[in-house]
Amino acid sequence: MPVYEGDPGVEIKAWSALANGNSANVSSLSFGAHTGTHVDAPAHFIEGARKIDALSLETLIGPARVIRVPDDIMEIDLDFLAKCDLDQVRRVLFHTRNSNFWSEGFRKDFTHLSPEAAEKLVGLGVKLAVGSKESVFAQFKSTNDTPILNLEGKFFLIHAPGGLIAAYRKCTHLGCSVPWNAAEDQFHCPCHGSLYDKHTAVVKGGPAPKPLQLFHITTDASGTLIVDTNPLNVIDRQANVWDPKVLEITE
Ligand code: FES
Repeated sequence: MPVYEGDPGVEIKAWSALANGNSANVSSLSFGAHTGTHVDAPAHFIEGARKIDALSLETLIGPARVIRVPDDIMEIDLDFLAKCDLDQVRRVLFHTRNSNFWSEGFRKDFTHLSPEAAEKLVGLGVKLAVGSKESVFAQFKSTNDTPILNLEGKFFLIHAPGGLIAAYRKCTHLGCSVPWNAAEDQFHCPCHGSLYDKHTAVVKGGPAPKPLQLFHITTDASGTLIVDTNPLNVIDRQANVWDPKVLEITE
């Protein structure tokens, strides 16, 4: 199994064995986190960023588009992406020549994404339909304004003063997924305790430096609300106060 150069290898040892009179066969397994197929957490290269336990499994599980990359391509760049059908895609798997290297140990000449292509993929965010304005406000009315979670789009629809906002549920402290806490009637980040307001998603406590970011909301020709989940195109509020100028959908 490939292991990154200099990292600890894979070691499997018998810890206890029935043959030795122990009550069970138990193995001990030790290896570095860069063994075989793995996910790099943001903290791998960014000090203080999220570690792997803070990444939501929702991000990694679900329908994906598989794109075969020809063997003569060493770098997946913007030109290559321009030829791919990425419409409405939430997850992409690139099937590259790297699959042939599985038994060869770690190779440095692997096919990879260019930084620009990686940025482009991060910014793909799908535009999600979330129903009519009337239906959303009716739901707020019947639930005492409980924020509406959209798991796929990673946002909450929130009944803001005078309208509707879509808050990206990524904590502005270190990026954990922020849940709604019904008992506390506020958003409460489980990682370091940041608290966000029910109606505005501004910070009420904890280390978060600014309010939750907002996704843009528009209405299509039929009156359906459309939330743009592109994380590179958010409303980024620096001041920790409610500003009605961010409202794109009013009551
Ligand atoms: S990630 Fe630290 S409080 Fe949310």
